[in-house]
Amino acid sequence: MSAGRGSGPAGRHVLALDVSTTATKALLVDDAGGIAGVAASEYPFAAPRPGWSEQDPALWWTASLQAIREVLATSAVDPASVAAVGLSGQMHGLVLLDAAGDVIRPAILWNDQRTQRQCDAMRAAVGRERLIALTGNDALTGFTAPKILWLRDEEPEALRRTRRILLPKDYVRFRLTGEAATDCADGSGTILFDLAARAWSDEVLAALGIDPAWLPRVAEGPQVSAVIGRAAADDTGLPAGTPVVAGGGDQAANAVGLGVVEAGQVALSVGTSGVVFVATDRPVVEPDGRLHAFCHAVPGRWHLMGVMLSAAGSLRWFRDAFAPGVTFERLVEAAAGVPAGSEGLLFLPYLVGERTPHPDPDARGAFVGLTVRHGLAHLTRAVLEGVAFGLRDSLELVRAVMREPIPSVRASGGGTRSLLWRQILADVLEVPLETTVTSEGAAYGAALLAAVGAGWYTSVAEAAAACVRPASRVEPGSDRAAYGPTYAAYRDLYPALRPTFAAAALRG
Ligand code: XUL
Repeated sequence: MSAGRGSGPAGRHVLALDVSTTATKALLVDDAGGIAGVAASEYPFAAPRPGWSEQDPALWWTASLQAIREVLATSAVDPASVAAVGLSGQMHGLVLLDAAGDVIRPAILWNDQRTQRQCDAMRAAVGRERLIALTGNDALTGFTAPKILWLRDEEPEALRRTRRILLPKDYVRFRLTGEAATDCADGSGTILFDLAARAWSDEVLAALGIDPAWLPRVAEGPQVSAVIGRAAADDTGLPAGTPVVAGGGDQAANAVGLGVVEAGQVALSVGTSGVVFVATDRPVVEPDGRLHAFCHAVPGRWHLMGVMLSAAGSLRWFRDAFAPGVTFERLVEAAAGVPAGSEGLLFLPYLVGERTPHPDPDARGAFVGLTVRHGLAHLTRAVLEGVAFGLRDSLELVRAVMREPIPSVRASGGGTRSLLWRQILADVLEVPLETTVTSEGAAYGAALLAAVGAGWYTSVAEAAAACVRPASRVEPGSDRAAYGPTYAAYRDLYPALRPTFAAAALRG
């Protein structure tokens, strides 16, 4: 971060935490934008019933402490040189605290599907059109608000004890600083937020009977939200008083880390889930609520986003089920020998239900068009292509709303390490795909937000321009034409199979 060079003894590093579903990562970034250290501590998540997904917030805190201590120790960075801390994490999770600040029950996570009935109740209470106009979004099972209604219906005793509602990374902030605060991106992911006003929506809260006093204070991503407290200083080794910026939900922070901060820039993420993200300079809403519309972690910016629930997660499932022990590299290498379109084989990636463009918890995965000619390599290629088609569904919705050509997309996530998958994505999405030098995703974005909060830069755009460097670029190639009809065939599958999926859900 060249602008920060020589900016004083306290200004040499920023530390970022990314509290994800599988691990908490701690990242140290120096004042030239370079990675000075990284450490991660993993944890499991629980699925106590089909469709449920929970995690004990204590796991995030223990992992945060471990990762912070480890990154400070292994990088030999002086904790006194940490100018600010940035936070990012899995969005939408519901953490409930009682009057003493203790956790009441395990957090209900973003990928939990139990709240279909409460989503219907939300639409009835607020009005579906009004809900979309106010919050930018329809009620979806993964979001935070319907989880609160689920507790009201199913665990009223837990809700009776509730005094505070927090998002996952904000629980870590609470432990670090003693303050209950969130950022606009994560706040808007609750669907209790007035998207245009970048503040809690009194109207939605009143309609749902949720006490505004339970909700955290809201700050913009690079704003200082609180400082490290004495007890957390002892636990982490970071000096008491170190500022903690608001940060951002993982998708917004990831976009910052990729330099997607100005209106019209697009980020593509191929992690466990897959995301198409476009930054906007006003609150743009997709009229049917098929794309999520949230605040960006950048002040004065919003974003639209399509989320597919199982992107690289589909390839992992496929490898574990059909080729256990085979490396992803070998699996994908074989798929390179199969022609585009996988000789008529299609894969639907709805292995854990879907969000965009079909918000359907009962949607299922499928291979369609199998013949005796198809082997492991065909099946693998069909998975890579099916995920790309699912992401194109989101990109087409973005294109329809934006009505402007998309010059390129910035791609990140484990899936983009494969050159073949990047080429398939560029061909199917019909857009050049760029990767960036730093692959630390949301944690890097949170670090850039901390760098702004520390005063190293005057804006997030300035921080991104100074620090984010392109690494590779893949242009759409000759297979692009072949994918047109295959994508059309893919699009026909969900409507055709929907009754089959609904019936399967009834059978279990
Ligand atoms: C975004 C979303 C996921 C989670 C998991 O809407 O649900 O990206 O934040 O990381």
